[in-house]
Amino acid sequence: MQTNFLVIGSGIAGLNFALNAAKKGEVILITKKRLLDSNTNFAQGGIAAVLDTHDTTKSHIKDTIEAGENHGDPKAIKFMVTHSREAIYHLIDLGVQFEKEKGQLMLTREGGHHAHRIAYVGDYTGAEIEHVLVQRVLEHPNIKIYENTFALDLITKNHECFGAQILHKKRLESVFADQTILATGGLGQVFSNTTNPKIATADGLAMAIRAGAKVEDLEFIQFHPSAFAKNLSPRFLISETVRGEGAHLLNHKKERFMNKRHPLKELAPRSIVAKEIFNELKKGPVYLDISHKKPAYLKKRFPKIYAKLLKHGIRMEKDLIPITPAVHYSCGGIKCDIKGRTNIKNLYAFGEVACTGVHGANRLASNSLLEALVFSNQIVKELKPAKSAKVLILPRPKIASPTSKETALAKKLKRQTQILMWKHSGIIRNPQEIKEKALPQLKGIQEQLAQIHSTNREIAETKNIAQVAENILKSALKRKKSLGCHNIL
Ligand code: FAD
Ligand code: SIN
Repeated sequence: MQTNFLVIGSGIAGLNFALNAAKKGEVILITKKRLLDSNTNFAQGGIAAVLDTHDTTKSHIKDTIEAGENHGDPKAIKFMVTHSREAIYHLIDLGVQFEKEKGQLMLTREGGHHAHRIAYVGDYTGAEIEHVLVQRVLEHPNIKIYENTFALDLITKNHECFGAQILHKKRLESVFADQTILATGGLGQVFSNTTNPKIATADGLAMAIRAGAKVEDLEFIQFHPSAFAKNLSPRFLISETVRGEGAHLLNHKKERFMNKRHPLKELAPRSIVAKEIFNELKKGPVYLDISHKKPAYLKKRFPKIYAKLLKHGIRMEKDLIPITPAVHYSCGGIKCDIKGRTNIKNLYAFGEVACTGVHGANRLASNSLLEALVFSNQIVKELKPAKSAKVLILPRPKIASPTSKETALAKKLKRQTQILMWKHSGIIRNPQEIKEKALPQLKGIQEQLAQIHSTNREIAETKNIAQVAENILKSALKRKKSLGCHNIL
């Protein structure tokens, strides 16, 4: 196959880029499951932007820099925040219906923000955005969509990207493109305890690493403070906006504790709240309490969370909600400039897989959907289609059946890696344990994986997870001092 733009991934970054690029040329969009399967579809809280008359660009920039512990890139942050308002109106123009009152957008708050600046749709903002973008992409004549199509590896030579090798209907194929766009999302599934759905297996990051792309800040894995403390996989998130609307955090004695730990109390930056909860959990359970609100309000404002908790016997208007931190977001990723360019010619990255430098050492809540949108809006103005035939001979591994011994081994090794990473690369890290236990165990896993010569989605995902796990552990070892989401014992 040949195209102008090959987009890998159908979350907010991939879909939005595809819509923009389709104005310039032909787009092939591939995604490993259904179009809707993405982290984006799970996003609850909303998108941050300067929308309130009392808010300022300066304040949003300051909050982003402070949450990121001054590790972010001020130029990239200024660029993102300056374009935040137009990004929200871009979504509204496409058909996203954010909550409004008397014609005005309703805005909520989350951790680290000093203003009401989160536009939202109930507690299912991501699903609303995803549905609208999918609809627009399906309607577009210049976009060809391939679902259940897995990108195995990038096709590169001499630091130039020509497309990707894909697994489509149990066959290996190559897609050659003028520009290849990685929009493959996050890496939560590298860990056993995560809010991320099963698709978040770090594929794009691993492919980029194998192709020689520069990666950055991988040690900054963000833990969301308030996942529901029920052993679900993925963990069910209780949005930070529940705290934004007045919920308190209580310790095992049913006493508030964040009011003694940070001026923003329950709405302190995420890395700080997650660490405080982690310490409280050593003494006993930690809860969210929003029982002062009326059931009618809670059902309307948080319909999905209300219904999910009810299924587990919890009524938000009277019961405490047990919570625990879980891996949520990768602040680092493939190093990109503000145009999404990587160090490999004709390879771009947008969304969670990219590291544009806006998140620093800890992402400010609801800046992720914003980042994905703003950066995938900008570059398109400059892209030029140049379709020229390219042929490269690629290795062609055998395809393993889903019931093969190799696949069963890959599944087992995936689980082992996830458990290892949660144990040794969690909220508090011990460098000696990483060196003496985690890395040697991971090496053992990688040696077994190297013996698997056939491939399929399960095997490729496990190899990707193990690869990125190694990069996270090594990045964690390099950073000698605690910063943001990286905390050393
Ligand atoms: P994704 O939306 O994850 O899309 C990645 C796509 O790539 C998927 O379609 C996937 O199937 C595909 N893919 C991956 N690998 C391959 C492969 N090898 N071959 C083919 N396709 C592949 N952020 C906010 O700003 N506000 C929020 O309120 C918010 N809430 C969140 C709640 C939850 C529970 C979670 C998990 C995250 C939340 N986030 C939130 C973070 C935010 O949702 C993500 O960072 C963002 O959606 C990432 O978008 P993306 O387009 O980069 O990736
Ligand atoms: C949430 O709703 O708490 C998630 C927000 C985010 O990840 O930015």
